[in-house]
Amino acid sequence: MSAFRILGEKAEAATVSPLQASLQEFIRISLDAKQLHWNVRGREFKPLHEQLDALADSARRWSDEVAERIVALGQAADGSAAVVAATNYAAVPGGAIAAQEAVSYVAGSLAEVAKRVRGRLEPVGESDLVSQDLLIGILAELEKHLWMFTVQI
Ligand SMILES: [Fe+2]
Repeated sequence: MSAFRILGEKAEAATVSPLQASLQEFIRISLDAKQLHWNVRGREFKPLHEQLDALADSARRWSDEVAERIVALGQAADGSAAVVAATNYAAVPGGAIAAQEAVSYVAGSLAEVAKRVRGRLEPVGESDLVSQDLLIGILAELEKHLWMFTVQI
């Protein structure tokens, strides 16, 4: 018995590949946000500690939604640590980190991911409007987080 497929083979491949790239980026954001949540220092510690946790929660939810969309489309989601570590991305600074440095890193990383996700919207929309809608909703939240870090620079 063959499984029901939401999209045709070509549209499925064209949709899953950008979703998979987004999944890796969202996992990365959630891990980096936690790393900074723990290690940030300075007078702004408390609000930043909480803001980073809110970002980690959002990014975890985005990764879950995107992974489950990939599976709903008939493919396997790939969010293993090894795959995420191999993404092309500026590494989060290790060790204790000053508040301003943490804010700059997060703002830069969110801006980069926002740009990449925005660039995927039109091509994904050509193969699957539902996946496009999912990415649009996530991007609106991502850009809101981006704004709230950028204004602190
Ligand atoms: Fe915590």
